[in-house]
Amino acid sequence: MQVAHSTETSAAAPYPFDIRRISDVAGAEIFGVDLKQPVSESLKEAIMRAFLEFHILVFRGQDLNKDEQHTFSKNFGELEHHVGRLPDGTPFPIVHTVTNLDADGNPTEKTVSKGNYHWHTDKSYHAIPSLMSMLHAKEVPANGGDTQFANTRMGYAALPDEMKARIADLQVEHSWEASRRNVGDAPPSEEQKRERPPVVHPLVRTHPDTGDKTIYLGHHTSHIHGVPKAESDALLEELTAHTTQEPFTYTHQWRPGDYTMWDNRCLLHRARPNYEVGKERRLLHRTVIIGTKPY
Ligand code: OGA
Ligand code: MN
Repeated sequence: MQVAHSTETSAAAPYPFDIRRISDVAGAEIFGVDLKQPVSESLKEAIMRAFLEFHILVFRGQDLNKDEQHTFSKNFGELEHHVGRLPDGTPFPIVHTVTNLDADGNPTEKTVSKGNYHWHTDKSYHAIPSLMSMLHAKEVPANGGDTQFANTRMGYAALPDEMKARIADLQVEHSWEASRRNVGDAPPSEEQKRERPPVVHPLVRTHPDTGDKTIYLGHHTSHIHGVPKAESDALLEELTAHTTQEPFTYTHQWRPGDYTMWDNRCLLHRARPNYEVGKERRLLHRTVIIGTKPY
C-alpha cells in the first residue's frame, strides 16, 4: 500500500493511501488500496474521514465479487434491504445488480430503472434512510452511462436568507408510491406499499457527522406538509433546480473497476442516459448502508 499522499485541502492527518480530489463539488479518487483485503480499523477510520471530506470516494481498479463487496460494505454499517423486485417477483438481493442487460445478457432499454434518471437520494422513503451507497462498476460503456451528483450542502448554503427562513421548519413526506408516480413507473403492489409506508423528513437536514445543513428532497418526495399541493410542487421543483445547477454538480464518468461510495446525506444523484442503452453494456453491483433518522 502506498503511504501518505493527502491533497492540499485535506485535514492535517495524512491519508494512508494515494488520494486526489476530482472536483471542487465532491469526489476524490483513491489508488493503492485493494478492497478485497480485510479492512483494518485505521484504514476504516481513514476511509470515513475521506468520505466526510469529499462525499464521494472512487477507488480505482477494483475487482470484487458480490460476496467480497458484501464483506467490504459491512465495515461501514448495516446493509439495507431493497423493496425493488426482480422480474420473477422476488426482492432484490442485498448485493444487487444495476444494469441494462436482460436475462440473456443482452442490452435493452427495458431493464433500466427509469427512476434512477431523476434526482434522488437513496432510500429517502425509509424512516431511517441511507447513509451511503456503493456502486462497483463491472461493465460500463466506453463513453457515457455517467452518474451525476449534486451537492446539497452547497445548494443550501447558496440559498437567499429569505428562502432559508421560509423552508427552515418544513416537513416533507416521502414514499415509494410517490416515487413511482413521480417518474411514471407502474404503481407498487399492495404488499410493497405495506412494506414501505410513507415517511416524513425535514426539508432542511443537518448532516449528523459534519453539522452542515443540506436540502433533503428528490423524486421520492410526495409533498410538503401544511402547504397547498401546487405550492409544494413548485417549491420542491425550485429547490431541486437550484441545488442541481451545474456549479454544484459533479458528473462521474465510470471506468471498469471503479468502486464508489457516496454520502446520501449531502448529495442528490441520478443516472444519465447518455449512451446507447439498447446496445452498450452497463453493469454495476450495489450495496446500501443504513444511516440515522434525519433531523
Ligand atoms: C443507485 C443509482 C445511478 C446509476 O444505484 O442508487 O441511482 O448511474 N444509480 O446507475
Ligand atoms: Mn440511487
